[in-house]
Amino acid sequence: MLNFSDRKELISALSWRGDQQLELFAAARGARDQAFGPRAEARSVVEYANLCDQECRYCGMARQSGIARYVLSSEEFAHQISQLYAAGRRVIMVQTGECGSSPYFDRLLTDLSLATVEYPEITWVFAFGSLDWDKYESLRRLGDHRYLLKIESSSSELYARSKPSDTLENRIEHLHLLQDLGFAVSTGNITGLPGQTVDDLAGDLLFLKSLHVPMVSAAPFVPNDVSGYAHEPPADADLTLNFMALLRLLCPGALIPATSALEMVRPDGQYLGLMAGANVVTLHDGTPACQEEQFVLYRKGRYLPREGLFQTLERAGLTWQSTPLEPLGTE
Ligand code: 5AD
Repeated sequence: MLNFSDRKELISALSWRGDQQLELFAAARGARDQAFGPRAEARSVVEYANLCDQECRYCGMARQSGIARYVLSSEEFAHQISQLYAAGRRVIMVQTGECGSSPYFDRLLTDLSLATVEYPEITWVFAFGSLDWDKYESLRRLGDHRYLLKIESSSSELYARSKPSDTLENRIEHLHLLQDLGFAVSTGNITGLPGQTVDDLAGDLLFLKSLHVPMVSAAPFVPNDVSGYAHEPPADADLTLNFMALLRLLCPGALIPATSALEMVRPDGQYLGLMAGANVVTLHDGTPACQEEQFVLYRKGRYLPREGLFQTLERAGLTWQSTPLEPLGTE
């Protein structure tokens, strides 16, 4: 059995290829299936707004990027949610840039409050970046939902370089605030950030494990043509997949997504992510078509997985559900 107790072993395993890599993936699938059974969660995302105060060098929605900005109207949001509900979705992520404006947040909160009353069966994943404590608290009052706040990198130096308008210390404080408030917290990193070392990645694995959160993720860096890192190379797909498999072994009972970004660094990347132990996929079927191209995390013409994902899940031997996936024995 593979045993990864220290940084050195993780560093070595991150570089495995060939048979060793296949063995790592098989172990990760085994750990996933033991914790959850061969099952996956299929959720949807609504990209509510692309306003952002941050200056992340990897992201196309950074404050200085000069893209057209949008906020969905309340009617558009309500319409999107009713469509997703009718399609059977019961886990919906609502995503925005990191925007601290209070009037903007108040409308978002009102839209979400109305939706939570109308659809009490929906589990929401709030992905709004770092906000003030009182804003987290008002979201928490909407019920038992999830909050996604990525750590991006657990190296303070790399964090400062990639996200110069923020600090790692601040981000960690926000993660703890969210945990203390009782959110089901989701966090994760970006693999392949310019300047990142394998040692940084081993540090990320140990950091993510130490948080004991129910959802962890790794997304490969994809250069975005309107970001500061437009000319940097994309992440190595194998390194990302190994990271995901190790994450599964370190956090067997966690939800781990196979991100759409994987598809941009390797053909059939999401399938490979599932074969490396992931058990969540996000369907990009909740943002109105005219705003979709403006939510430029990665780049224009980004890959937006929709119903085809169900075949990918089947190919990976997973049955999927659109309700929250819990580890076996906890449902
Ligand atoms: N490549 C990979 N991940 C990215 N994100 C933003 N831009 C990129 C990129 N170019 C991720 C960050 C952020 C999340 C919403 O999207 O991790 O927290």
